[in-house]
Amino acid sequence: SWTMANVVEEQVAAVRAQIGDRRAICGLSGGVDSAVAAALVQQAIGDRLTCVYVDHGLMREGETEQIERDFVAVTGADLRVVDAGEQFLGALAGVSDPEQKRKIIGREFIRVFEQAALDVVAEAEEHGETVDFLVQGTLYPDVVESGGGTGTANIKSHHNVGGLPEDLTFTLVEPLRTLFKDEVREVGRQLGLPDTLVQRQPFPGPGLGIRIVGEVTRERLDVLRQADAIAREELSAAGLDTEIWQCPVVLLADVRSVGVQGDGRTYGHPVVLRPVSSEDAMTADWTRLPYDVLARISTRITNEVAEVNRVVLDVTSKPPGTIEWE
Ligand code: XMP
Repeated sequence: SWTMANVVEEQVAAVRAQIGDRRAICGLSGGVDSAVAAALVQQAIGDRLTCVYVDHGLMREGETEQIERDFVAVTGADLRVVDAGEQFLGALAGVSDPEQKRKIIGREFIRVFEQAALDVVAEAEEHGETVDFLVQGTLYPDVVESGGGTGTANIKSHHNVGGLPEDLTFTLVEPLRTLFKDEVREVGRQLGLPDTLVQRQPFPGPGLGIRIVGEVTRERLDVLRQADAIAREELSAAGLDTEIWQCPVVLLADVRSVGVQGDGRTYGHPVVLRPVSSEDAMTADWTRLPYDVLARISTRITNEVAEVNRVVLDVTSKPPGTIEWE
């Protein structure tokens, strides 16, 4: 719309004024906010923005590729993808407790991102340039929640063996801090980002790591990724993907049940479909999906995903259930 075109223009000018001819770094999460913030800053300062995407190996099928391909194609951004899947799997080995998993994923994420940021800074310094700014996709509701302050972010250099530990301080650039989510999507559209990015449903930072009940392993991630891709495909085909808030697919990796397929008995894992309707994720109701859509998802998952012999539907509202299972 005209108004959002104005917002884009104003914010691009503001970012240009703030950053001048210096450099900025931006962490992409795969989500809407960081992608739109990055695209906007890219518009303002071009290749003086470096984007970093930490691939923790816990994304859904095609999501990392979407960032690598679609985001870069549209924005022309300088993007570093850090493939850290092995590191995350290693850190998660043997861990089933949900809070523990969240802590580990969060910790590893910061480690990997900070290291990547330090590399970007070091590289810039070799060319006599400094990276003073960190771009964040903070929205208006986040600003209100955190009391309205803006400021700086610190990165400690842990790895500076032999040298003095160096603390890096970045000034925050938050071009979305006056906007609500739907406005951010509109800004994203104005900037030419594809619907796959702009309309993306909420997805937790810890990714599929908290949608496997039990230990996270590569094999289990593969199983869940296939089941999730089928559910998303069928929901989109039915035109329901924009209707529902989100639909986590959860693998009960520590549960087995008996089934029968062809001539044989199976002993596989159930997956749970968790379709929810919500306004803000604080409360949610389970979505009454059409039976025929549920049937297609169930048939396809049990036919196409080895290891899964049962599909169950979560009919719990929030509260008392949370949207995610972990
Ligand atoms: P719950 O499970 O608490 O989830 O009802 C509420 C909403 O938040 C999402 N969620 C997360 N998002 N990092 C995120 O960025 C997280 O660790 C996280 N955990 C849950 C969840 O998908 C739902 O939309």
